Amino acid sequence: MSMEDHVTALRERTERALDRWIPSARTHPARLHEAMRYSALGGGKRVRPVLVHAGGLAMGADTPRLDGPACAVELIHVYSLIHDDLPAMDDDDLRRGKPTCHKAFDEAMAILAGDAMQALAFQILTVDPDMIPDPARRLRMIELLARAAGSRGMAGGQAIDLGAVGQVLDIAQLEDMHVHKTGALIRASVLMGALSADELDEGRLEQLDRFAKHVGLAFQIRDDILDEESDTAILGKTQGADRALNKPTYPAVIGLDASREEARALVDQALAAVEDFGSEADLLRWIARYIVERIH
Ligand code: IPE
Ligand code: IPE
Ligand code: MG
Ligand code: MG
Ligand code: MG
Repeated sequence: MSMEDHVTALRERTERALDRWIPSARTHPARLHEAMRYSALGGGKRVRPVLVHAGGLAMGADTPRLDGPACAVELIHVYSLIHDDLPAMDDDDLRRGKPTCHKAFDEAMAILAGDAMQALAFQILTVDPDMIPDPARRLRMIELLARAAGSRGMAGGQAIDLGAVGQVLDIAQLEDMHVHKTGALIRASVLMGALSADELDEGRLEQLDRFAKHVGLAFQIRDDILDEESDTAILGKTQGADRALNKPTYPAVIGLDASREEARALVDQALAAVEDFGSEADLLRWIARYIVERIH
């Protein structure tokens, strides 16, 4: 199977697992479940779930064990997208090629859909029968995801982002914002996969963490570049939104060429971190390259 086919299969696998976990649109309260399904299903690149599987594969974890953490991190991610698009935040109308949750439903339902997804993520990590049975390991994953989503991770990064509107940031401040708002969940994805393996080698875990840290920053730099130079139809979200909102981004601060160079350099550093892994890390390597080459 080619890497592309492998990734497609993992995306489809994640779609099916999410479909099973999110209550049906007929379950009471139906409109809330409809909003959750509208935003979580049928779209997105599923980069974080694929990273969970890739991190797990690199450490030898069985695939069915990885569906739970893959769904959990994707649910936190989709919740962050729904809230990121709200009028109080980035005020966007388009997401994954369709109207944002608050446009298709309303603001209150979008807030609640995000809230419920966050709760469902942690419910999965506690009750999924297919995940690694060891409770200590599960607790470690729960802590990891909680920290990555919280005030010292994604939510904190979003607060930094909102506080930075109209400001001139230096490169260190920009990196700090990106590492929190986007990097934290990407790091947690790789590590939750790795923590699903029976045998844990803390040294290897540390190498994977270094890999994920570089990939996480590269991912948001690429997002900033695409916001500047891609187009709305390909992106599935409004092109030029950062500039319109006067957001400090990598292209705004260091220019497009230097941003591309920086993203490439980060991917090289990520690949170097897993240099002594064998073919079990090929999926990780593939995603690292995909992240800086992607066009949406
Ligand atoms: C968009 O994430 C928001 C960021 C953190 C940059 P993705 O580019 O992964 O969005 P989807 O999941 O594919 O829609
Ligand atoms: C979002 O960053 C990071 C999140 C935590 C959702 P952006 O605001 O740049 O994401 P997009 O471009 O709207 O997807
Ligand atoms: Mg934002
Ligand atoms: Mg946004
Ligand atoms: Mg963006």
